[in-house]
Amino acid sequence: MFQSLQALPADPILGLMASYRADTNPRKIDLGIGVYKNESGDTPVMTAVKKAEELILKAQATKSYVGPTGAADYNAIVAELILGKSLVDSLGKRRVTVQSPGGCGGLRLAAEFIKSANPDATVWVSNPTWANHVPLLGSAGLKIEQYPYYDYNSHSVQFDEMIDCLSKVGSGDVVLLHGCCHNPCGADLNQEQWQKVRDIALQQGFTVFIDLAYQGLGDGLEEDVYGVRLLADSLPELIVVSSCSKNFGLYRERTGAMTLICENSETAAIATTQIAAAARAMYSMPPDHGAAIVQLILSDDKLRQEWDTELTEMRNRINGLRAQLVKQIETIGIDQDFSFIEREKGMFSFLGVNVDQVQSLVNDYSIYLVNSSRINVAGINDANIKYLAESLATVLKA
Ligand code: LMR
Repeated sequence: MFQSLQALPADPILGLMASYRADTNPRKIDLGIGVYKNESGDTPVMTAVKKAEELILKAQATKSYVGPTGAADYNAIVAELILGKSLVDSLGKRRVTVQSPGGCGGLRLAAEFIKSANPDATVWVSNPTWANHVPLLGSAGLKIEQYPYYDYNSHSVQFDEMIDCLSKVGSGDVVLLHGCCHNPCGADLNQEQWQKVRDIALQQGFTVFIDLAYQGLGDGLEEDVYGVRLLADSLPELIVVSSCSKNFGLYRERTGAMTLICENSETAAIATTQIAAAARAMYSMPPDHGAAIVQLILSDDKLRQEWDTELTEMRNRINGLRAQLVKQIETIGIDQDFSFIEREKGMFSFLGVNVDQVQSLVNDYSIYLVNSSRINVAGINDANIKYLAESLATVLKA
C-alpha cells in the first residue's frame, strides 16, 4: 500500500531551518524561522522559565492525565493575560479558554470547532498570511478565501481594499486577523482600523478569529492586545488562538490556548463540549510541561516580573535592530527606501526583493530567508548586520 505514496516538498519554513543547520559557511545568517535570537544568535531558555521548571520538577507529585481542555488554572491565567482581568470578569461564563498544543494545535482545534458550528463556513485570511494557516485550517475541510491586506509598493496595510472586501463577507463566515506583529509582513492595524473592523463585523455578522502568536513582541503586553480586547468587549462572538512559543520562548513545549467568546453562557457551555470532543479525537489532551511553566510564572509576582523584564529586552532588541538595519542599508549606499522596516512590528518584515534575489542571498551568501523575502529581524546582530547589508546591496545591483 505504501508504495503508491508520492514524496512531498519540505515545509518552506521548516525546510529552510534544516538547510541553515547543514550549511558550514561561518558567515551564514538565519533570517528564516520565527524564533527569537539574542545578540549571540542563540535562543536561550528564559531565566524565569528555567526557575519555574526547577520549582515544578521539585513539587510535581503526579504525571496523571490532565484532560482534553487542559489545566483549569493555566486556562484562567492565560485568559487574563490576553483579555485583562476586568474583561474576563465582565465576560463571565460567555468566555471559555482551552489549553492547546501550541498555537498550531489551537488553530487546528479552532478549525474543527468552526467546521462543527458551520460546515459551510469560509475562512477569510489576509493576503498574505502565515504559510501554515492554509494547511492548518484547510485540513479541517474549511474553505479558504483571501482578503487584501498588504500593499507591497507602499509597504503598508491596504486598509480600504480590506474593508471593501470584508463588507461583502456575511454571517456564517469567519475572518482571520493577526492580533499583532503580522506574520509575514509586520504591518499591523492601528487602533482606528481595529475599530472600523469591529464596526464591519457588527454590521455584517461574520465571526472574527484572531491569531495571537506574538503578544509582547510588538509594542508591549497590553498595547499588543488592543484589537483583541476591543473585539472581545464589543462582538457577540470571537475566537482567539494564542501561543506561548515566542513570548515565553517555549517553542518545543507546544503551549497555547484557544479562547472563545459566545453570545451567552449556554452557548459557551455547549461549545466547550464540542471543543473537548475535537481535542479528544485529535490528540486526546495537550502536553502539560509548558503550560505548568506559564501558569507558575504568571501567578508568582517575582517570576512574572523577571519574565516581563526579559520579554521587554527581547522586544526592545527587535525594535532596535529594525532601526539599525535601516541605518546600515542607508550607510552602505542602497538607494531603495527600506525605512518601512522601522515602522513594522514583531519579528518579521518583507525585504521586498524578488525570488531570484532571495535565492541568491541563500545560495551565494548563506543568508537564509523564505522565498517571499520575509526576514526574521531577530536573526540580525552586530556581527552580521554589515555583511547582510553588503550582500543585499550586491544582490540588488546584479
Ligand atoms: C514562523 O512563521 O516562522 C514561525 O511561526 C514558526 C513556524 O512554525 O512556522
